[in-house]
Amino acid sequence: MVRPMTCCTSIYGRFVVVFLFSWVRLLALAGAAHGRPPVAGSALSSTFYDASCPRAHDIVRRVIQNARVTDPRLPASLIRLHFHDCFINGCDGSLLLDDDLPTIQSEKHVPANDNSARGFPVVDDIKSALEYACPGIVSCADILALAAEISVELAGGPHWRVLLGRRDGTTTNIESANNLPSFFDPLNVLQEKFRNVNLEDTDLVALQCNFTRQNCTPGQPEGALENLDLATPKLFDNEYYGNILHGRAQLDSDQVMLSDPAAAASTAPIVHRFASNQTDFFSNCVVSMIKMGNISPLTGKNGEIRKNCRRVNNKGY
Ligand code: HEM
Ligand SMILES: *[C@@H]1O[C@H](CO)[C@@H](O)[C@H](O)[C@H]1NC(C)=O
Ligand SMILES: *[C@@H]1O[C@H](CO)[C@@H](O)[C@H](O)[C@H]1NC(C)=O
Repeated sequence: MVRPMTCCTSIYGRFVVVFLFSWVRLLALAGAAHGRPPVAGSALSSTFYDASCPRAHDIVRRVIQNARVTDPRLPASLIRLHFHDCFINGCDGSLLLDDDLPTIQSEKHVPANDNSARGFPVVDDIKSALEYACPGIVSCADILALAAEISVELAGGPHWRVLLGRRDGTTTNIESANNLPSFFDPLNVLQEKFRNVNLEDTDLVALQCNFTRQNCTPGQPEGALENLDLATPKLFDNEYYGNILHGRAQLDSDQVMLSDPAAAASTAPIVHRFASNQTDFFSNCVVSMIKMGNISPLTGKNGEIRKNCRRVNNKGY
């Protein structure tokens, strides 16, 4: 049986991670792997906070480490927040805004997020810790990007150097949020939604989670992840990954990215490629996560650094 792996939802052996780390990073920094085009026009930088908030990464990591002791599902939830942020108006923290009607209608209530997107209180905790250490410096959009990388890494996935320097938006986009990739979308619609943000089939396969049916079913029991050994991660294997992140369900992926009539000519070969070559998969996972984090960031003087991730700073009314 083919056992496809996904970047955002898998757990991998640490030894592989360490072995791969250095060159995966090189590939990522070069912005290209396996003939894939480099990310265009990114103004982000992995050293963005080196002078202004050198402990930013450590602070985010510490808050997540503490929080996941009581909420083992948290890393997965944080990865998903970055995804749902970046697909709407680019990675600008718009997902984090609460209702402030009539100006701000929160994206948290659209079907893809309602009772499903979670982890917001931990984002608040991260923001508080960062505001304490370096007030007004680290954006909420960058918090989500950092949290996603740290979460992939904590789950035993690859490491990479997160590109930073995003600023926070001051609006939400409900129409776009209502159009987030859906569980019910056929392959061609998912491909189109990814293409709209410059992500290709390879990214769809490396990132997508639709093939984890149980995990992708709203209302998966909270206790499903309880048995994780958080303090000393083991050498995780695919079985473990299947059990834990997919609520002990059998992976549905064999059917999903493989069975659509359009799959044979598009995603199916990629699924096979990743399933048979973890090295290939790992490097694509990193490249795709970086590409996703590069979707239309606000930089320079655009946007703002929110003081509170749930509210814009100056409402202007
Ligand atoms: C390709 C289109 C995608 C669809 C249709 C999809 C759909 C879903 C759905 C329905 C859930 C279940 C939410 C719940 O249990 O309430 C889910 C969970 C999740 N998704 Fe996706 N997803 C997609 C792509 C992605 C991508 C690109 C990422 C990461 C980069 C991602 C990461 C996750 C994670 C980590 C979870 C678990 C979240 C948690 O446990 O809180 N997904 N997804
Ligand atoms: C995603 O899963 C749902 C439910 O299993 C299915 O209806 C849909 O076609 C799947 N999407 C793809 C791209 O396979
Ligand atoms: C696996 O993928 C890597 C990176 O693309 C490549 O260098 C290597 O040759 C592949 N291994 C096999 C057995 O195909």
